[in-house]
Amino acid sequence: MPVISIVNQKGGTGKTTTSLNLGSALATLGKSVLLIDMDSQGNLGYSLGLDEGPSISDVFEGNVAIEKVIQEREGMSIVPSDMRLVDIELSLIDLSDRHNMLNSKIKAISKKYDYTLIDCPPSLSILAVNSLYASEKIIIPMLMEVLSLQGLDQIIQTIDKINSTYKKKLEIAGILPVMVDKRRKLSEEVKDHINENYDVNIFSSMVRNNVKASEAPSFGQSVITYSPHSNSAKDYMSFAEEMIKLN
Ligand SMILES: Nc1ncnc2c1ncn2[C@@H]1O[C@H](COP(=O)(O)OP(=O)(O)OP(=O)(O)O)[C@@H](O)[C@H]1O
Ligand SMILES: [Mg+2]
Repeated sequence: MPVISIVNQKGGTGKTTTSLNLGSALATLGKSVLLIDMDSQGNLGYSLGLDEGPSISDVFEGNVAIEKVIQEREGMSIVPSDMRLVDIELSLIDLSDRHNMLNSKIKAISKKYDYTLIDCPPSLSILAVNSLYASEKIIIPMLMEVLSLQGLDQIIQTIDKINSTYKKKLEIAGILPVMVDKRRKLSEEVKDHINENYDVNIFSSMVRNNVKASEAPSFGQSVITYSPHSNSAKDYMSFAEEMIKLN
């Protein structure tokens, strides 16, 4: 049931990798999963080897029902995106209910799935606000580096603003440490800093730096399928188990 946005306005923090591998891990554990790409880069569909075809852009343009753009991979239902989202975002600027476009399109269908995961763009733009508005929870994949902390303040402020403006109760489910290099003491220091200064959960699961995670997209597969015994497959399976326990 929950709709969960995978958010971080910084680029390259493992949003797409987390969306698709958490999705595939949840599907492996028997859950029904809807994955939605809200990034005009279209990395999610590419990484899962989706066919070219209608996308979320067609849904927003009002030509096609969301059911018609879904493709099935690895037991998940996936809604791809494409570059036209850039123009769609611009056309939304003047609309008064611009924040509600995604929500209005997925409200009915997301009820049919155990989990709906939204891969957000690297910004806190209108498309990101649409993702957040459509969600009950967010997951923040984050590199445990000092520079990530600045971004965290911005995400928290954005969520507070969405909650107060739209009377929502969007929650941060937690921060997922990604690309973790266990030898680096710095990661622990950043974690301690977050624990001491922010009222935000850090998941006990984390995702280690692992070359298999970065290879898998070239094969159009999640790392769970591409290399099930790799560290990153194991890490995403543990994370899926942690997410299931949370609900
Ligand atoms: N655990 C990992 N170990 C090694 N490489 C990883 C890991 N997770 C992600 N990567 C690689 O890091 C890069 C960025 O990851 P990803 O595309 O998931 O980030 P993103 O936040 O979605 O990026 P963007 O902001 O552009 O949408 C990719 O090349 C990906 O393959
Ligand atoms: Mg991405």
